[in-house]
Amino acid sequence: MMIDKRLLGLSPESKKYIAGNVFLQWLSLVANICLMTAIARLLAGLFTKTAGQRQISLTVLAAAVCVAVRFFCTVGASRMSYLSSKAVKRTLREKIYGKLLRLGVSYRERVATSEVVQVSVEGVEQLETYFGAYLPQFFYAMLAPLTLFLYLSFVSLPAAIVLLVCVPLIPVSIAAVQTWAKKLLSKYWGQYTALGDTFLENLQGLTTLKIYQSDGFKNEEMNAEAEKFRKITMKVLTMQLNSITIMDLIAYGGAALGVILAATQMRSDRIDMAGALLIILLAADFFLPMRQLGSYFHVAMNGMAASGKIFKLLDLPEPEERTESVPADCSIACKDLSFSYDKEREVLHSVDLTFPKGGFTAIVGESGCGKSTVAGILMGRNQGYTGSVTVGGVELSKINEADLLRSFTYISHQSYLFKGIVRDNLLMGRPDASDGELWAVLERTKLADFLQGEKGLDTALQERGSNLSGGQCQRLALARALLHDSPVYIFDEATSNIDVESENDIMAEIHRMAETKTVILISHRLANVAAADNIYAMENGCIAESGTHEALLARGGVYADLWNAQQALENYAKEASV
Ligand SMILES: Nc1ncnc2c1ncn2[C@@H]1O[C@H](COP(=O)(O)OP(=O)(O)OP(=O)(O)O)[C@@H](O)[C@H]1O
Ligand SMILES: [Mg+2]
Repeated sequence: MMIDKRLLGLSPESKKYIAGNVFLQWLSLVANICLMTAIARLLAGLFTKTAGQRQISLTVLAAAVCVAVRFFCTVGASRMSYLSSKAVKRTLREKIYGKLLRLGVSYRERVATSEVVQVSVEGVEQLETYFGAYLPQFFYAMLAPLTLFLYLSFVSLPAAIVLLVCVPLIPVSIAAVQTWAKKLLSKYWGQYTALGDTFLENLQGLTTLKIYQSDGFKNEEMNAEAEKFRKITMKVLTMQLNSITIMDLIAYGGAALGVILAATQMRSDRIDMAGALLIILLAADFFLPMRQLGSYFHVAMNGMAASGKIFKLLDLPEPEERTESVPADCSIACKDLSFSYDKEREVLHSVDLTFPKGGFTAIVGESGCGKSTVAGILMGRNQGYTGSVTVGGVELSKINEADLLRSFTYISHQSYLFKGIVRDNLLMGRPDASDGELWAVLERTKLADFLQGEKGLDTALQERGSNLSGGQCQRLALARALLHDSPVYIFDEATSNIDVESENDIMAEIHRMAETKTVILISHRLANVAAADNIYAMENGCIAESGTHEALLARGGVYADLWNAQQALENYAKEASV
């Protein structure tokens, strides 16, 4: 197939520009035919010495008009081509953007970020040639030979037929290359996105790579990948060049055939001189549009391969329309909840958890037991769980994402801080907060003193807050969360980088919140959770035990073991420091 129907149907708006483009090119062809006819007649007239002054000036006049018409047609056609590719690019980017929004926070489960970036920037760009040049040329390349055939058939039917019959040889040669080209191009795009992926990842992890001095190794790895990409690019270019050579052979060979035919026909007096000249002048025009189509074809193929990726993204299954809102009673209950990131390994095994409204619940357990996974499910980030999770009786998977995110605040040890100033980062939590309110939360998270020494709320932040210490970042994230006044808070190791003293202050803050809000606290340090109304101790994706601190200690299970181990360690540390 030389035309992708789905791609064509993508933007109805661009269709009219394509039609306009084809018409203008066709008009330009007609002008060319007139011009060539006038020239052929004049030449024949001059040769037979029958042309007078009048015919010469008339020809010059006609030529001027034709050239002017062609000029305006060319300008108009390129304008149309720009408009149609612009329309398509806009529609496509809107579609991709809308799709990502509908996929929601869990989009990363289905597609890599770097791929989305490449597809929506470079991939969409590739379609420019497809819509701006290839598609109009496709229709024009059919229209042009037919028009010429109709006209030349009055001059010499045999010559016109021969020329017309040779034209389809070009698309046939294109089709021959296509099956092979398609495979090559899809490989090319695969390599391209793979390279982009590695590049992005290595760039993000550059500091770590330097620390472990693995940058040399990664460098070689990337070089190898880049070399592979270079090779496949060369292959693609070779393929395109070869196929263009073949098309040239056909186009100019066909034109030569026309010239020979015209000459022999004139010799046998079947056509006059003007007719022969006309055939010679117009023979190449039979082939040039098709030949041009062929060279656009390869770029267009690239666009079509990119469109494959775009459609794959657009076709990703979307989470069901979620219309329910979070009920006022936002107590949470998980029943028989299981979850796996990939099919091979289940991470949560039929766990039952309840987080009563206004309650203070803690989840503890060894690293990797599934605590953050639970938090991810509650935040709607991990989808496709089995069992049930209800918020005030409404199934979580039916709750509108925006509403969920308004009602649930998640603060992790790696909450994102944006480049800019402190105030802007805080205002994300509550856009209408006054400076006074901002200072109040900074006070509560023990950041006020530090920031007063800097530029206050206008203190500049670098990307990810990299100019602050780890603990300061966490405190700022916490302050932002405090501003985001929501009924449910999930703290996931939110104080992991903070010294014990400030941690205690912040914990006091969290405990105070727990008096009015539903708080779920995930923490390694058991001293932090001792005050919770209920503690879940997890082990390998299951709930090992639950209860209050006292009850769990009395039980002498996992929790008690962990507690005793931590107490011993902290006592030892205290003794050591005395
Ligand atoms: N995005 C992911 N894709 C695949 N597997 C994951 C992903 N995130 C976590 N896991 C796996 O799920 C299991 C539970 O991880 P989880 O992050 O919930 O642990 P955790 O209890 O929060 O640990 P920690 O205390 O170290 O934060 C781990 O075995 C981990 O390998
Ligand atoms: Mg975790």
